[in-house]
Amino acid sequence: MRAHPAGPRHADVLTVASSAGPPPATLAALDALPAAVWPRGATRDGAAITGAGRTTTGDTTRNTTGDTAGDGADGGGVLRLAGVDCRDLAAEYGTPLFVVDEADFRARCGEYAAAFGDAGLVHYAAKAFLCAEVARWVDQEGLSLDVCSGGELAVALRAGFPPGRIAMHGNNKSVAELTAALRAGVGTVVLDSFAEIARLDHLARELGVRAGVMVRTTVGIEAHTHEFIATAHEDQKFGFSISGGPDSDAAEAVHRVLKSEGLNLVGLHSHIGSQIFDAGGFKLAAHRVIGLMADLRERHQDLEVPVVDLGGGLGIAYTALDDPLPVEEIAISLRSIVARECAFAGLPTPRVAVEPGRAIAGPGTVTLYEVGTIKDVELDGGTRRRYVSVDGGMSDNIRTALYDAVYDCRLASRRALAPPELCRVVGKHCETGDVVVRDCWLPADLAPGDLLAVAATGAYCYSMASNYNRLPRPAVVAVRDGAARPLLRRETVEDLLRLEAT
Ligand code: LLP
Repeated sequence: MRAHPAGPRHADVLTVASSAGPPPATLAALDALPAAVWPRGATRDGAAITGAGRTTTGDTTRNTTGDTAGDGADGGGVLRLAGVDCRDLAAEYGTPLFVVDEADFRARCGEYAAAFGDAGLVHYAAKAFLCAEVARWVDQEGLSLDVCSGGELAVALRAGFPPGRIAMHGNNKSVAELTAALRAGVGTVVLDSFAEIARLDHLARELGVRAGVMVRTTVGIEAHTHEFIATAHEDQKFGFSISGGPDSDAAEAVHRVLKSEGLNLVGLHSHIGSQIFDAGGFKLAAHRVIGLMADLRERHQDLEVPVVDLGGGLGIAYTALDDPLPVEEIAISLRSIVARECAFAGLPTPRVAVEPGRAIAGPGTVTLYEVGTIKDVELDGGTRRRYVSVDGGMSDNIRTALYDAVYDCRLASRRALAPPELCRVVGKHCETGDVVVRDCWLPADLAPGDLLAVAATGAYCYSMASNYNRLPRPAVVAVRDGAARPLLRRETVEDLLRLEAT
């Protein structure tokens, strides 16, 4: 974290140090939509974009605001999402607005399913983003679903998601949550503590059911990601450690499950962290989980572990500099490690399951904001920083403040007509740390009323949204084939007032 002692901190303002890279060389580059970062259905009207940016359609057919795209009165270059003009979206649904490219989301589900050979082995991690319609997409694509709270479970059930394909996570599931999961008939509960093994066994026997369970292991890996989202090193709250082999907590947990009448072991689980770009951590996790299976075999000769779940965590491109692992590659490598090591240890080969959240939901969504105040601030050393305030902020995207996340931000409602200016896009909250995009190049002619789009906000933005400063949470709309429909409506002040008990 950027904690610093009380008093002024000049370290990062003396030079205009920037995570934005060098200024784009041309106006077209300033308007580019790098293909790895933007939704697959994102295009710009009429702009001829070259290089790494996505080429655009030049299509003028669905521009309902009057100008002719490409050479219209306002200069064209409007961002379209799945064919829908972003100005129409802002006009109809307001800003800030989350816009989900449905085809992008579904295609990524399909790619994961194909890579892992069975859609049911791919559990979409609902914590990245969940609403009833998204649960239906996940169901229609044949994937399974991970939930980690009674609230996520309730949304999934409301959407009619088949409970048998739901897995329930959590390091501190309440009795009420466990009971709701058992009553609904969820396929798997992922066990996280000895207390929970006893608790779930008791509840299952009371309800006269046998709960499918996985044991979550902690495989002792330092994932190369932000400390807050690394989960497999020893000193944290999740899972059972495998250190100690046959005498480990994980081995003891499996032993207790096998003895329990109310529980049925369906697999072993490991999740090493999130936003990971290096395949090494996943491979080592697979290796260590198979090692645990081999240890367990000594004590339980007839042990069967049908599934090894290697969790989520595959990184996505937030900027053009990020280079995520292709899912096909990681799938082949994980499945072959598991097969090879099981063959070597004389174990039956379990099926490999995964739990992607960010990699499915992240890249297909953008947030639209309207520019409000623009302020130039003089810095020491004669430099200046342009602060561009938008109508949302840390209440709809806490990731920049919390993890130093970086984002690709572009002018969306028209093409750039002036050279790049280094900007900091900030929100409207009463807090200096309320930064949406720390550094980005935006055209110097940016003006109040322009729309900005921030890419790759589909995961962990809406799902971590708050009502800080009593801001209502934004709406979420889906776009597909030139049409938009709401998934979640914008909160109103009435919604906020409804909570008042007196
Ligand atoms: N499975 C388990 C057990 C998890 O804890 C998580 C994420 C996932 C799967 C999905 O991971 P993904 O594929 O999305 O990386 N709020 C943070 C991310 C927290 C991730 C928590 N667990 C962020 O905004 O980066």
